[in-house]
Amino acid sequence: MNGKVVIVTGAARGIGAAIAGRLAARGALSVIVDLALPAAQTVADEIVRSGGRALALAMDVSDRRQVDATMAEIAQRCGSIDILVNNAAINYATPIEDVSDEEWERIFAVNVRGVYNCCRAALGPMKARRWGRIVNISSSAGKTGGPISSVHYSASKAAVISMTKSFARHLADFGVTVNAVAPGAVETDMALLLSEDDRRRAAQAIPLHRLASPSEIAHSVAFLCSDEAAYITGEVLDVNGGAVMD
Ligand SMILES: NC(=O)c1ccc[n+]([C@@H]2O[C@H](COP(=O)([O-])OP(=O)(O)OC[C@H]3O[C@@H](n4cnc5c(N)ncnc54)[C@H](O)[C@@H]3O)[C@@H](O)[C@H]2O)c1
Repeated sequence: MNGKVVIVTGAARGIGAAIAGRLAARGALSVIVDLALPAAQTVADEIVRSGGRALALAMDVSDRRQVDATMAEIAQRCGSIDILVNNAAINYATPIEDVSDEEWERIFAVNVRGVYNCCRAALGPMKARRWGRIVNISSSAGKTGGPISSVHYSASKAAVISMTKSFARHLADFGVTVNAVAPGAVETDMALLLSEDDRRRAAQAIPLHRLASPSEIAHSVAFLCSDEAAYITGEVLDVNGGAVMD
């Protein structure tokens, strides 16, 4: 990935930070975009300290104008946008009958419209170079719905799978592949929405009997961004310890 410019959204912590670190370790310039700039800067500093290249920028993926401006700035400062990883998302553990309009709209603004905004803004540079990789982080909840995930979150992650396939068809003629990774439960702050008891029960129900580490998700993203994955597009890669097999 030497010389490739990678944007990872929501990379100030958790899975996004692991993805940015993994791709930088493989030679890419990782651009870490997140609402939380100080934390994003800490991740970038850590990558640079380990000998990689990284840049941190503040961006709200749900704000189309901000996304267009920030992506244009990245393309101009870094010379291109080669790889986009749509990782930023939010989740609320709200009982199915209690979801407010505001919460529903915020989840869809970030998890669905945010992915659309970023894909749309990256298309120009990728089409121009006739090469690109987009990886969208969905969730096994997007396939199954789920007792442990909120109804709006699961629905938003199903929409990410559908959008992945639409963009994959649209961009195939331009040398751009678009895939999704669907993690099961991962050891991050988001998983802390579950109580310790629920996390233990969830781990027991997984055939591999544990939650994933963020770096295990990052490895699968790195594969989909590589030249070895050039013939894979519109695919949803399950990384869930066997929890969902379809
Ligand atoms: N943790 C899990 O168990 C799990 C399971 C399946 C899928 N996922 C998916 O993996 C991805 C990463 O999850 P995580 O557990 O690392 O989450 P996390 O909550 O630890 O981190 C999410 C990051 O996204 C950022 N963010 C939130 N809203 C944003 C916005 N509007 N614009 C820009 N950045 C924003 C946050 O500041 C944070 O840094 C998400 O797409 C999530 O849905 C997580």
